[in-house]
Amino acid sequence: MIYFDNSATTKPYKEVLDSFLTVSSEYFGNPSSLHGLGGQAEKLLSQAREQVAKLLAVKLSEIYFTSGGTEGNNLAIKGAALLNKNRGRHLITSSVEHPSVRAAMEQLEQEGFEITYLPVDATGRISAADVEKAIRKETILISMMHVNNEVGTVQPIEEVGKIVKNYPTILFHVDAIQSIGKVPFSLTENNIDFCSISGHKFHGLKGTGALYIREGARIAPLFSGGSQERKMRSGTENVAGAVALSKALRMTMEKSAAGTERMKKIQSMLRTGLNRIEGITINTPIENAAPHILNFSLNGLKSEVFIHALEQREIFVSTTSACSSKKKSPSKTLLEMGVPESAAESAVRISLSFDNTEAEAATVIEAIEKTVNQLRKVMN
Ligand SMILES: Cc1ncc(COP(=O)(O)O)c(C=O)c1O
Repeated sequence: MIYFDNSATTKPYKEVLDSFLTVSSEYFGNPSSLHGLGGQAEKLLSQAREQVAKLLAVKLSEIYFTSGGTEGNNLAIKGAALLNKNRGRHLITSSVEHPSVRAAMEQLEQEGFEITYLPVDATGRISAADVEKAIRKETILISMMHVNNEVGTVQPIEEVGKIVKNYPTILFHVDAIQSIGKVPFSLTENNIDFCSISGHKFHGLKGTGALYIREGARIAPLFSGGSQERKMRSGTENVAGAVALSKALRMTMEKSAAGTERMKKIQSMLRTGLNRIEGITINTPIENAAPHILNFSLNGLKSEVFIHALEQREIFVSTTSACSSKKKSPSKTLLEMGVPESAAESAVRISLSFDNTEAEAATVIEAIEKTVNQLRKVMN
């Protein structure tokens, strides 16, 4: 089996699963309980927080555990909007965000907030100058993904961070769910107030994640309850999940430098191989692209049929994002980039992990060529 769908989710590392199991079975106490079992769980939670903070080079008090990327994005965006609504009701984002940002923004629109959705260029990138032009005196938040989940474009968060510095009342949220461990960036040097990460995108477990909230930046909590996570996220903590997340992040960061180099090589090999196949157009840009995603169109073929045909060869890839692939609508990102609808409808996404190999890439290129030829024959 060749698994090339790592942007949808990754296979958890064995060590991560082992940690989850050990904590769940041996340290199952509730961290809020006063007895020793509770104390042990609380200690583990605190150690996990310390590890995540250290790996992200931020303070322990700035890490909040969540149930994943969707929750982190909702918490940052709606939490910031709710708390600051009396100061202003305008937010800025891009037109190619993940649905967990897009739909959160749309919900705020229904509540009377105004949202600017910035356009992207043909490479899927927003312009930092456009961000600055969109700023109004009522703007309270700018929210932007670091790496696009459908095509892999890297957004100019450093440039936007510089702009934000000149507007101290505007908060800056970064969705780093696709970039963490793959595209280095600094939380502290880019004036980032909130940043969401998700465990299952880096070999942790589904339903685990963390939100960085810069010391001094505040949000209104979305869950009311027992005041866990320093009142920001009530609900009994997923201690084993947090420990698993910290382990997955540590392992990812340790593998990051070598793993990223390997992915770049494999990505370039795939690009060259696929470019040689007639009728394939690569949609992922060469510049400002993450090393793990390669999106291409199969002009004239249906991506869904292609995905299933490739599956027959035990190769797993995606149409666009895992969330929209079942909706059968063409990729929003590609349409926003100006890719024609027919090409967007035939888009396929390959996404790599540190564990993929050049040998796998060679097999995949050959399989794609054979599958494309087979399907074209059937069509003719
Ligand atoms: C860019 C981006 N943001 C947010 C999410 C949502 O994360 P989760 O699946 O942990 O809710 C994803 C998941 O695909 C993503 O790619």
